[in-house]
Amino acid sequence: MTIRTKFTETFGVEHPIAQGGMQWVGRAELVAAVANAGALGFITALTQPTPADLANEIAKTRDLTDKPFGVNLTILPAINPPPYDEYRQVIVDAGIKIVETAGSNPAPHLPMFHDNGIKVLHKCTSVRHAVKAQSLGVDGISIDGFECAGHPGEDDVPGLVLIPAAADKIEIPMIASGGFADARGLVAALALGADGINMGSRFMCTVESCIHQNVKEAIVAGDERGTELIFRSLHNTARVASNEVSREVVQILKDGGQFEDVKDLVAGVRGRKVFDDGDIDAGIWTVGTAMGLINDIPTVGELVSRIVGEAEQLITGRLGEMVTPTAARV
Ligand SMILES: Cc1cc2nc3c(=O)[nH]c(=O)nc-3n(C[C@H](O)[C@H](O)[C@H](O)COP(=O)(O)O)c2cc1C
Repeated sequence: MTIRTKFTETFGVEHPIAQGGMQWVGRAELVAAVANAGALGFITALTQPTPADLANEIAKTRDLTDKPFGVNLTILPAINPPPYDEYRQVIVDAGIKIVETAGSNPAPHLPMFHDNGIKVLHKCTSVRHAVKAQSLGVDGISIDGFECAGHPGEDDVPGLVLIPAAADKIEIPMIASGGFADARGLVAALALGADGINMGSRFMCTVESCIHQNVKEAIVAGDERGTELIFRSLHNTARVASNEVSREVVQILKDGGQFEDVKDLVAGVRGRKVFDDGDIDAGIWTVGTAMGLINDIPTVGELVSRIVGEAEQLITGRLGEMVTPTAARV
């Protein structure tokens, strides 16, 4: 049995599950494992230091899978922006057919992607941005609720409201993210009107994810309260793991500090050390409230087949059994 949705049909994957872009984590081994499991994985373009490195990472992924996969292009305001046009050109030249855009309006990138037969799944955190992206002509929406790892936006609307509110206005395929980690989440997302789920934290904690084992074990040991929201006062909120560094950042900004005052604490090189060396207090690292639902470190294949299998059982079993035909109710 399989679960077919508008998302699986449009994006040509077996299961209604995506692995969204993840800085430092979305690399060839993980993305290929997700593809081989029948879900949709995205290489994170900006994890690669140069566009040429992205081309190599795409080639490496192709060596590991012949199934479809995509590339995430996160467009964030920066003092020295990366060469987005060059990364985009590499994506096109490599023959990638699915791109996940995130961070800001995808309009400048759409014509080139569409002219080259690339489908665009735009990730956003509010109904109004989803509606805007739909009107721009993207091929799918990925709506990320307040529970999510990374940037939840500034509206603080959790998935239970965000997903159905978006579903009321979105006609193209839409997947939901933020706090999804198991079959119950997938079934709930489908019930709320989504066509599938996108997961970050859950895929981060798998055998094929190339981060240090200590980080995976910290996720398993942690619970749903184990995150902090940093940069609130700067209107650039990010949900990250609660540790010595993130708690200090929260305090400094609460006391009226500015970005300059926390710049060194939040430096990317420090966060990178967490993933590479396994020192979970070395810097800022990203994870979501889904941590409270993550209790093991399975292979990606085991994880995807567990989620899909249990979702099917849940729909046809527990939920199906709750429904009694009206005539039988006396
Ligand atoms: C370690 C990590 C890094 C992330 N980096 C990015 C990124 O660079 N670009 C992006 O669009 N989303 C990024 N995300 C967000 C994920 O793609 C996804 O939207 C999010 O994790 C969903 O919430 P969940 O963690 O509750 O599943 C990141 C998430 C994690 C856990």
